[in-house]
Amino acid sequence: MSIPLVDLVTQYEGLREEVLAALDETLSGMQLNLGPNVQALEEEWSEYCGVAHSVGVANGTDALYLLLRALGIGPGDEVITVSFTFIATIEAIIHVGATPVLVDIQPDTFCIEPAKVLGKVTPRTKAILPVHLYGHPADMDALNAIAKEHDLLVVEDAAQAHGASYKGHRVGALADGGTFSFYPSKNLAAYGEGGMITTDDEALADELRALRVHGSGERFVHRVVGYNSRLHEVQAAVLRIKLRRLEGWNEQRRQHAARYNELLSDLDVTLPTEQAWAHHVYHLYTIRTPRRDEIAAALEAAGIGYALHYCKPSHLQEALAEYHFDPAELPETERAASEIISLPMYPELTDEQIEQVCDVVHQGLC
Ligand SMILES: Cc1ncc(COP(=O)(O)O)c(C=O)c1O
Repeated sequence: MSIPLVDLVTQYEGLREEVLAALDETLSGMQLNLGPNVQALEEEWSEYCGVAHSVGVANGTDALYLLLRALGIGPGDEVITVSFTFIATIEAIIHVGATPVLVDIQPDTFCIEPAKVLGKVTPRTKAILPVHLYGHPADMDALNAIAKEHDLLVVEDAAQAHGASYKGHRVGALADGGTFSFYPSKNLAAYGEGGMITTDDEALADELRALRVHGSGERFVHRVVGYNSRLHEVQAAVLRIKLRRLEGWNEQRRQHAARYNELLSDLDVTLPTEQAWAHHVYHLYTIRTPRRDEIAAALEAAGIGYALHYCKPSHLQEALAEYHFDPAELPETERAASEIISLPMYPELTDEQIEQVCDVVHQGLC
């Protein structure tokens, strides 16, 4: 039986009645532009993350872009981030007119290596932008210490880590601001696009609320040139239903990861790690081995979904060629890119499915 990488259909079956009722209520009210559900979701998300303010926007890329812009980052500035991420992280830096500076990752967490950040700080550096990759938080204390010493901002890209925490504090609450994506495959996902920005800074939140609606706080009055990046009311209604289940879903992901770890422990592959200070939410369950192509071929033949996040890291993308990133500075990124493979991971995954996937992984390596 085939097993998808992510199963949105099964999840919807369990939510159908509640979602349809919420859609009906929302559409019957026809308050579609930053209406009651967006406002309620922002409050609920702030409480969940432990921040003072959340601002809903159209997607996770806009969330990053708008946050960088509202923080005053622009032409002439450098932002330090990773190559080993979805390209949106780097696009946002470029779209505000700043220059992305890429550093290597830690081979176990796949997140930014703080020790390598220091060597990249210049007088033009304005911010550090860690990505909590696959659902595991970056080492925020080390990054915040560097930022404090060099007077830099820190922005978290938490697009893949809804509900993850670092030393007991949720991601999105660990720096000057955090951003989330509600793309359909994420741990908390819309039926379309959506994004959220979190911060404790009230003035920053006010600026973001204006930027997302054409620089306006009052109808037909525009203080700055802004954008059209609203979180849609229908998506917010869906997200509120799903948010009530997020903790349970993340716990199921953690149990699936533990089961995978158990069933794959006899193989010569590197399993995902969870640092002592981390609470991992397994957006992806990604293992690594130089023999990953053999696993991929076996999964393919068995009709099991897999993905290679990110087999072509950002510094090798044609879109970024003009920056002439030096691959020699990113050895762990390049090694990870050639070894990683993500196995099916979603809350509704059954034990039988996990066993089937693990059997096929074993076959691929025998
Ligand atoms: C690490 C990371 N950053 C940013 C984004 C961008 O989010 P969105 O697709 O909602 O624009 C994604 C989404 O895929 C992501 O994985």
